[in-house]
Amino acid sequence: MLTPADTAFAMAIVRADEALRPAGERLFEDPYAALFAARGGHADEGTQRFLSLPFFRDAIRLRTRYVDDALRDGLAAGLTQVVLLGAGFDTRGLRMGEIVERRAAVFEVDTPDQLARKREALVAAGVTSATAIAYVPFDFDAPDLETALPAALAAHGFDDHAGALFVWEGVIGYIALAAVEGTLRLVARACGSGGRLVFTYGEGAFAASTAVAAAAAAGFEACDEESLEDLWRRYVAGAAPPGLAIAKVATARRGAEKI
Ligand SMILES: C[S@@+](CC[C@H](N)C(=O)[O-])C[C@H]1O[C@@H](n2cnc3c(N)ncnc32)[C@H](O)[C@@H]1O
Repeated sequence: MLTPADTAFAMAIVRADEALRPAGERLFEDPYAALFAARGGHADEGTQRFLSLPFFRDAIRLRTRYVDDALRDGLAAGLTQVVLLGAGFDTRGLRMGEIVERRAAVFEVDTPDQLARKREALVAAGVTSATAIAYVPFDFDAPDLETALPAALAAHGFDDHAGALFVWEGVIGYIALAAVEGTLRLVARACGSGGRLVFTYGEGAFAASTAVAAAAAAGFEACDEESLEDLWRRYVAGAAPPGLAIAKVATARRGAEKI
């Protein structure tokens, strides 16, 4: 049985395997993913079950590229803080040159154990970072999430007046509905005017009818949702494989301007 934290190994394997594709077919480059993929032996049975789902690898590849693009877009618009909610083995703080160039601060939020094993793998491999990465241990199921998470971020140097881009990739399915709704509300407040939330989710993730409705109820002025089939057409071309309808991505935004 995979723990929610162990599910991050499957993401790392998909991202590591991207390097095996011809350069022209890669959707992203993640030179650090193999470090984590190599440490997931204890969870291998569950990880392999995930990886063998027909849509799984393509879904992770597409959403990774989508989030990368949304992040580049947010940085180009002037955002200088990036918060990775449920960061797992996301290595954007290390691998994305745009984050370094713009001197953006990165905040990685996850359980204490997950952050510890991530740092252990990076230290063991001698990886150093040109980016300021703050590791923020936090449990999204905390009853006081809406006040405690902003406080934890602030304690690590986050400025909720400076504008931020929050990434919430592959996490919603693992936390309670109250935590999903609380997170939407707290991010709408903390990301500031012009701030954004980029997120991925499956069917029925929100009590509201759609992610767009849930984002509006939480205080975002705009939210654009896309299917993985849309992303396939954009990034890969041709007919999307069956099964991609299982998940969606969206960018919600504070400020009136449409995305
Ligand atoms: C499927 S992984 C996704 C990781 C990363 N966002 C990515 O796309 O590679 C889910 C992550 O959410 C974290 N997570 C799940 N439930 C959590 C909770 N209640 N509090 C904090 N983190 C949690 C897990 O530890 C894990 O790292």
